[in-house]
Amino acid sequence: MSVSFTPENQKRFEKIIAKYETKASALLPTLWLAQEQFGFLSSEAMDYVAGLLEMPPAHVYEAVTFYVMFKRKDMGKYCLQICNNITCQMMGSEKLIQVAKDELKINFNEVTEDKMFSLVPVQCLGSCDTAPVVQVNEEYCEDLTPEKFKELIHRLRSGKASERPGLSCQ
Ligand code: FES
Repeated sequence: MSVSFTPENQKRFEKIIAKYETKASALLPTLWLAQEQFGFLSSEAMDYVAGLLEMPPAHVYEAVTFYVMFKRKDMGKYCLQICNNITCQMMGSEKLIQVAKDELKINFNEVTEDKMFSLVPVQCLGSCDTAPVVQVNEEYCEDLTPEKFKELIHRLRSGKASERPGLSCQ
């Protein structure tokens, strides 16, 4: 399957590379743009980015495998990243994990059959003062309780949450 940016994203890509002295320096924002459009970074998408930036595909693969924010497979519409580091653990993340597993009927690193949700364990999200924290796609949902988290999952599933789910955590 061949992949390419939409005309709109092609313009965004051109604006990105204009900010850097070399095309290779634009690797991370270009990958971010590719992930936004394609949903995840398949081999085809990584090869496409390598071609755009005129760099060896191996360099792109290295970056994608190094940074956890890049997805290498379809993680569904909502990727729930649950922080289970020490502060979040002390503030109840284990209960959030149980809520997610009960509600979604999946384990970590799995995707629901309807491709709505995936569940990923992560280390400290850098927001310990608002623990426990779950990152929903790019949005942080903070100070969660099991009840609030369950309600959020229901809203996301029903389509009643906004497209910016973090805002729905308030
Ligand atoms: S331990 Fe969870 S945000 Fe820091």
